[in-house]
Amino acid sequence: MTIERILVIGAGTMGRQIAMSCALGGYSTVLQDISADALDAARAELESWAAGRVAKGKLDQATADAALGRLSQDTDLVQGATTADLVIEAAVERLDIKEQIFAKLGEHAPAHAILATNSSTLPSSKVAEASGRPEQVCNMHFFNPALVMKCVEVVRNAQTSDATIEAVTEVANRLGKNPVLVNKEIPGFIANRMMGAINAEALNLAHAGIASIEDIDTTAKTALGHPMGPFELMDMVGLDVIDFIAQATYAETGDAADQPHPLITEKVAAGKLGRKSGEGFYPYS
Ligand code: CAA
Repeated sequence: MTIERILVIGAGTMGRQIAMSCALGGYSTVLQDISADALDAARAELESWAAGRVAKGKLDQATADAALGRLSQDTDLVQGATTADLVIEAAVERLDIKEQIFAKLGEHAPAHAILATNSSTLPSSKVAEASGRPEQVCNMHFFNPALVMKCVEVVRNAQTSDATIEAVTEVANRLGKNPVLVNKEIPGFIANRMMGAINAEALNLAHAGIASIEDIDTTAKTALGHPMGPFELMDMVGLDVIDFIAQATYAETGDAADQPHPLITEKVAAGKLGRKSGEGFYPYS
């Protein structure tokens, strides 16, 4: 099937950059959010990002203008759903809200439309039934910052059809991403499982006073070649998000090792959520 029109639901950190990636990939893209303010903020950020790329000589003006021209915004979910060939849901990580969204999509999206969720914690099987078309549902998991990170995890649920996986993989390729296939739903998929293991060790080392968070981050960068240290990365992702991922994983596995780490719980309780709140493990001015 040919995918030409994409609806991205949710104009938060992930949704807005996923939408811009789709527009840059040549797709006619609608970014939908219930908040007009969130949509306006997303548009302003993406215009400024594009202007920055043009100024750096990494994007030509015509390509930037064409992509921004292909990207529209809407507060109405139904409107964008009726013409979408692919929906990428990047709304808030709440099952009840996602179920409502997928039920609406099932009702209003064209019969051929594929419905993907960007969720890293809710496998698509949880919303597949609500859509009434479980074989056309899967996870399409992007990474933060989505305009930069190349990996997209394409996660099959037990009912996902091969045609759905092929179509989503093709879209990811056209966005210039590296799609990887996760054949079976497992909490954290591939990347968050590996990131969780590194974070857990880093948190334990700091908690036990073995090394400072700065030195642990320096080790990750200069001994292991990671672009960011685990504490810098957790601050970027958001400590509330890290906490939520741990809670969701623990609820699924019941393994005590998956429980949120006390250092994270402490920060979240103090409102120190990372870059977005001005302080996490590090201060941000
Ligand atoms: N949005 C858009 N572009 C951004 C950006 C952002 N927030 N942050 C950086 N960039 C761009 C810059 O514009 C720059 O582009 P050019 O090279 O084309 O000019 C490029 O990224 C590099 O940026 P910087 O030079 O400022 O900084 P850097 O070299 O340190 O790179 C980074 C920044 C790309 C974030 C890099 O540090 C990195 O790869 N970090 C690891 C990120 C990571 O692991 N992400 C996964 C998080 S886990 C997740 O997302 C899953 C989940 O479910 C929670």
